[in-house]
Amino acid sequence: MSQNKTNIYDIEPHLAEVYDQSEIYQDDVELIRDLIGDRKPLRILEPFCGTGRILLPLAVDGHQLYGFDQAKGMLDRARMKVGQLPAEAQQRVTLTVADAIGTPWPRGFDLVILGCNCLYELATPEEQERCIISAAGSLNPGGYVYVDNDHMEGELARSWRRPGVAQGFPTGNCADDTRVESYIETIWWDAPRRLVRFRRGTRVTLPDGTIVEKEYFQQKHPVSTLEVWTWLEKHGFMVRHLFGDRMGSPYTDISGRAIFWAKKD
Ligand SMILES: C[S@@+](CC[C@H](N)C(=O)[O-])C[C@H]1O[C@@H](n2cnc3c(N)ncnc32)[C@H](O)[C@@H]1O
Repeated sequence: MSQNKTNIYDIEPHLAEVYDQSEIYQDDVELIRDLIGDRKPLRILEPFCGTGRILLPLAVDGHQLYGFDQAKGMLDRARMKVGQLPAEAQQRVTLTVADAIGTPWPRGFDLVILGCNCLYELATPEEQERCIISAAGSLNPGGYVYVDNDHMEGELARSWRRPGVAQGFPTGNCADDTRVESYIETIWWDAPRRLVRFRRGTRVTLPDGTIVEKEYFQQKHPVSTLEVWTWLEKHGFMVRHLFGDRMGSPYTDISGRAIFWAKKD
């Protein structure tokens, strides 16, 4: 299990609906489609798959998708969305509740997707490197891994070093009038090691007035491009492409993202 004992997305099922209201982009799906090209059907694994934003359109394309996530509420919403796909695409999706740290990842895949800053869910570089090791174990020889993170080199960026309480993610209203409110307070950081800790809280007010509340601590380690590149090479990958955004632009020192497409030897 990750040192982060509480999964923010697993506090109450309505959080999955609020997640889907804000995370609506599909440009990474288009980039993955371009990278896959005409290789299909592939067996694709998406750890940290959430509500299926990435894996559902790939199942419609004809690929076999296996997704896992620690948060049951996120997967329940993904399953509801699977039910809205064409029948033959529904058959191509398998979803399981599992912790990426401490659970063996399934094997025999052509592509592993580590999308949408999912390494940021983990507390330490050791846990993040373990995901690259697990991805290598899940892939057939010649398979690919896609790794998408914000781009932060050097010391922890100043924008991450602001003490004080702010409105946090997720916050929003659900269709049944449930209100989700969250806050985040930065309480500690180690700038050279790029570690930062937060006190976070979420309050869910259900339509009948029932309140579900949870306060917890979370640590993050924003990965650097050099770290991810080093882990990939150390664990048997060759980096084929490094993009600076989800449109597929080349990576530069000032890119907003660092997106790897690497092949397992
Ligand atoms: C930012 S969301 C990304 C969801 C999806 N990949 C997307 O692009 O929309 C991160 C997901 O990681 C999951 N997660 C966090 N820690 C995890 C862990 N240790 N093992 C498995 N899933 C985890 C959360 O439950 C959440 O659904």
